[in-house]
Amino acid sequence: MDRFAFGKNWDDFSARLQYEDYIAARESLKKLVPDLQGKTFLDVGCGSGLFSIAASALGARKVLGFDFDRDSVAASEKLIEIISRWDGDVKKDTIEFNVGSILNENISLEQYDVIYSWGVLHHTGDMYAAFECIKNLVAEKGTLVLAIYNKHFTSPVWKLIKYTYVKSPNFIKKILIFLVMLIKFPAVLIVSQRNPFKKRRGMHFYTDIVDWVGGYPYEYASVSEVTDFFQARGFKLAKLNKTKGFTGCNEFVFEKV
Ligand SMILES: C[S@@+](CC[C@H](N)C(=O)[O-])C[C@H]1O[C@@H](n2cnc3c(N)ncnc32)[C@H](O)[C@@H]1O
Repeated sequence: MDRFAFGKNWDDFSARLQYEDYIAARESLKKLVPDLQGKTFLDVGCGSGLFSIAASALGARKVLGFDFDRDSVAASEKLIEIISRWDGDVKKDTIEFNVGSILNENISLEQYDVIYSWGVLHHTGDMYAAFECIKNLVAEKGTLVLAIYNKHFTSPVWKLIKYTYVKSPNFIKKILIFLVMLIKFPAVLIVSQRNPFKKRRGMHFYTDIVDWVGGYPYEYASVSEVTDFFQARGFKLAKLNKTKGFTGCNEFVFEKV
């Protein structure tokens, strides 16, 4: 299957990460899951590993991050070294990163208290199969944090753009990134009413744009499609942050009841 090389983008991101980006990431995780003390934490599609490391600093007793792309895992391992120098609360020896796919039903025999999968399951190539697999990994009374691209009438157009990106030579990729940057910059300013350069979750504008233009496979779902799926399988919606844009990610915090 044609896919975007997420790991390469994460490697570039990790090399430019600043202390304040890490703090922003840690705070965003704390807002979603205020109590990580003594919990086990699974980061599905860990990308740069930033949120696994933040979870450890916030008190998680055991952290496993895995990603389909081995460059993401390499970037995550580098980032532990950097962040543990900045933050003495990071417990390096309790964090592990592995290569793996959430579509592999045997990815873990263990269940976790908190599962975090931000912006991942819509990139697996089979989002609903990924929903089925991830729900089985949540421990009793555990928490599942998901961010899933919102369904909008422009979503099929973006799917085509992303497909074109992964199929194109490098110079076309650069042109596509430039064109989307021209659209996204004013769109974020006007629709979301925020400064596009203001870092959210510690992310960088350029990394986000490349991830957005290239992020293929790409699926999407409405808020009700995601909530209906998990509510029908024994989860309760505890928190919902709807995207302020059209096609951005909706954030869900589910609790297993
Ligand atoms: C948009 S990034 C999000 C990274 C991270 N969760 C974050 O919030 O920064 C999506 C990540 O999902 C990973 N991914 C895609 N398919 C996957 C799969 N089947 N299993 C695990 N990870 C996958 C990609 O390699 C990529 O690193």
